[in-house]
Amino acid sequence: MKRLAPSILSADFSKLGQEVSEVEKAGADLVHIDVMDGAFVPNITIGPLVEKSLVGKTSLPFDVHLMIENPDRYIEDFVTEQTEFICVHEEACTHLNRTVQLIRSFGVRPAVALNPATSLTVLDYILEDVDMVLIMSVNPGFGGQKFIPQTMAKIKLLDGIRRNRELDFEIEIDGGVGASNIAEISEAGCDIFVAGSAVFGREDRVAAVSELKELMNV
Ligand code: DX5
Ligand code: ZN
Repeated sequence: MKRLAPSILSADFSKLGQEVSEVEKAGADLVHIDVMDGAFVPNITIGPLVEKSLVGKTSLPFDVHLMIENPDRYIEDFVTEQTEFICVHEEACTHLNRTVQLIRSFGVRPAVALNPATSLTVLDYILEDVDMVLIMSVNPGFGGQKFIPQTMAKIKLLDGIRRNRELDFEIEIDGGVGASNIAEISEAGCDIFVAGSAVFGREDRVAAVSELKELMNV
């Protein structure tokens, strides 16, 4: 089943609980939590306290996207009973296999993200061990950026590799996803769609979520 993961990066943090329950009622499937450290990416956002504050405020699972250096230091802090995925950047991990095993040891599904200019080949020896691959379609750091078109071919290629190797990890896309491109991304083989500004940037969240879900389930 394809899933929509609104990114709280574009939500109003002064009423985060309300924002999240609005998109849950509208039909969102996951809550995407963007963690930035001001070192791996040129922006600072939120940490584990904010994730923990949402436990019990929604029944949606959490999809934690760590855009931080040396993520091993903080993985345990992001484990909650609602955390489905913890995603680390390949570019930020010296011992990626160790990091992936660490995430799984907490009963959380491990995921690996790739920046737009990183080749899929870096995943050759880790694909068997991950539950999701996150393909960044913008340079991470900010919401509201434009989708980088070469990403479409990258998703198709990854979907082909998945088929050839008979693996069942999920493919997630993040950055610049909206009504104009979500159907095409879905056809390329994507399973989970992160959308920040296309959901929280709109007044009518019910309309935003149902429109995107209809388009991605073509
Ligand atoms: C970018 C973040 C994304 C971002 C998506 O660094 O990882 O999750 O918030 O926002 P939109 O959908 O507005 O591009
Ligand atoms: Zn993200």
